[in-house]
Amino acid sequence: MVPHSPIRALTSSAVAERSGSARGAPVGQSTGTASPSSSGKKRGRRIWSQIKAFPTRAVHRIIDSIPHSWRAAWVQRASRSPLFVGLYYLWSGDFAREQLATFSGRQIHRQRHAAGHMDAVRYALRRSIHRIEKGLIMRPRREVFAEEYIREAVADYVRLLESHSSAQNAAADPLICWARDVLDLYFDVTGSSPILDKARRAYFALGSAHPPPPQSASPIVPYRRDDQHPTISIDAMTALAHRRRSVRWYEQRPVPRDILDRAMEVARWSPSACNRQPFEFRFFDDPDLIARIVQIPMGTKGFAQQIPCLAVLVGQLRAFPLERDRHLIYIDAALAAMAFEFGLEVQGVSSCSINWPDITEKEELLARTIGLADDERAVMLISCGFPDPAGFVPYSEKKPLDEIRRFNFVGSAASSPESPCRQ
Ligand SMILES: Cc1cc2nc3c(=O)[nH]c(=O)nc-3n(C[C@H](O)[C@H](O)[C@H](O)COP(=O)(O)O)c2cc1C
Repeated sequence: MVPHSPIRALTSSAVAERSGSARGAPVGQSTGTASPSSSGKKRGRRIWSQIKAFPTRAVHRIIDSIPHSWRAAWVQRASRSPLFVGLYYLWSGDFAREQLATFSGRQIHRQRHAAGHMDAVRYALRRSIHRIEKGLIMRPRREVFAEEYIREAVADYVRLLESHSSAQNAAADPLICWARDVLDLYFDVTGSSPILDKARRAYFALGSAHPPPPQSASPIVPYRRDDQHPTISIDAMTALAHRRRSVRWYEQRPVPRDILDRAMEVARWSPSACNRQPFEFRFFDDPDLIARIVQIPMGTKGFAQQIPCLAVLVGQLRAFPLERDRHLIYIDAALAAMAFEFGLEVQGVSSCSINWPDITEKEELLARTIGLADDERAVMLISCGFPDPAGFVPYSEKKPLDEIRRFNFVGSAASSPESPCRQ
């Protein structure tokens, strides 16, 4: 793919225009004037964060002072020791926020689930119903399955039902409808066992509280897809992938919210581990709010002032009772992010992913600015807007296929560092 007009064609007037001076007042740029009390608070926070960062800096300084030749051998050995690495990060505090948020998410999940709070109940029920659906599609299907969690699934379903003021309201909750249809099918097709029979009795005892399935719609249960080919060809898909680039220069007009919603409609069908979807996209199109948020990550320097719409992708660690799943907020949100960006691009709106750095002060500032709970972590940001036709995009050459793809390769990439996939 060759860019439409190479950057050599960029004239000085275009440079002036791109620098923002020709655009009038930048959108959402902070004025930088602070009241005496707020600057005092800021100074206090700065001092406190320097105190907190002291151990990290001290560790890095000690390591930097070791002669390079010793360090290489020593670090190689030490990096294989879980004890050393654990102590190092304990001392440096580099992952402290991640650990705090993970711990907090786990506690929130367990405590709130036990206390019947709906966010934890919903996450747990989603996972259980997902697992039951997987059991239902097994070939051959087992007579009895899901015994380990069916009681909890029914109990969560009941709690969710009870959280609604009427059966009518409950019937409007998509999670209840999905759970009801899958549980109906599950109890219909499974055999008998003491655990299962007890759960079945509890389920059918719900009686009138149980919202009846709508007459017309078909049940929301595993189904056979039609065997039609998607209407989008691989050529069209490839063209879209080439077309979508990280665009950083935008026209100064708002992005209609229905365009964002239509792109979100693509994003929300993205895969998600156990279908928990542990994230939300927080959109900001208010210039004042954008101005406060957009300067916090480091990667927006130079183009922050003209971003008309900003999404902050927030992961919720309360979705998980166990640490082993903590990375899923990043994976699930990133999969949705890609789908979202494609959804924007086909509507003529461009975007740029923006890195969220794991830096304590920045995490604290973002948490204060947009109000994040202890278990909530920014995954990334996405700027969006109608592309400014005068703006250039980096070519961003991609690795060739044979550098990123191998078939039936068994071995370590580290042992063949040069062009690893090419052999
Ligand atoms: C997780 C992630 C973080 C990124 N962070 C930034 C950023 O902070 N600032 C920026 O200008 N671009 C950022 N980008 C955009 C990349 O620079 C861009 O995707 C890459 O150079 C490839 O270009 P392309 O998106 O046009 O294919 C980020 C992209 C990703 C996926």
